[in-house]
Amino acid sequence: MKIIVTDSYDEMSKAAAEIFEKEIRQDSKIVLGLATGSTPIGTYEELVRKYKEEKLDFSGVTTFNLDEYVGLDVKDPNSYRFFMEEHLFNHVNTNNENTHVPDGMTVNPDEYGEKYDKMIEAAGGIRIQLLGIGSNGHIAFNEPDEELPVGTGLVNLTIQTIEDNARFFKSKEQVPTQAISMGMGSIMKAKKIVILASGEGKAEIIKKLLERGKVSTRIPATFLLLHPDVTLVCDRKAYSLVGR
Ligand code: GLP
Repeated sequence: MKIIVTDSYDEMSKAAAEIFEKEIRQDSKIVLGLATGSTPIGTYEELVRKYKEEKLDFSGVTTFNLDEYVGLDVKDPNSYRFFMEEHLFNHVNTNNENTHVPDGMTVNPDEYGEKYDKMIEAAGGIRIQLLGIGSNGHIAFNEPDEELPVGTGLVNLTIQTIEDNARFFKSKEQVPTQAISMGMGSIMKAKKIVILASGEGKAEIIKKLLERGKVSTRIPATFLLLHPDVTLVCDRKAYSLVGR
């Protein structure tokens, strides 16, 4: 795993945006895998700035998001489709038809998940995937468990994730308990992966990820250790426990 440690959140965001910019400029028809959460917001801000000030063109870009809460429709401010519109799609020239976020209102999430994976394949596969990391080591919404899903489908959220994400909702009770998430196999098929981590709250999990030298379904992010092209971009605070 390649590791880039930056002094601040802003520097982390700039470093990640630069990696994406390079890929988009190299291939205007690129397929991107995108993530939500508070960590990638700065990266999206920087990509929007590059679009506005440096002519970074998104018109040919196709995107697939990692996940969506079950039961939230696109107009719900807590839905990940809403998040993506607010932080990226509404501010750059992506073509709406080419931006994909799993549908949280689908009646059959597993069937829908299979279709989602096929759509990614039909688009040529993900060239570069952006990831955050949950404080429990989840990626997308693949939660620590005895087994991890390979393909995209329905997942149950852990209490820790519900508590971590409650800050975006009026109360913990309003956080959906299920999501549709890209599976571990779907994520690992991306040619290149960039994983972000910022702040002290991620220091423990980054230490575990980097120091164990083992994969564990109890720390889903450790599967990234098996991928040939992963870059961790994190700030000093998230990296602060490594080696201690
Ligand atoms: C959510 C998302 C993940 C994200 C994680 C971390 O649970 N499903 O994709 O990585 O939150 O979020 P944050 O960046 O806000 O810490």
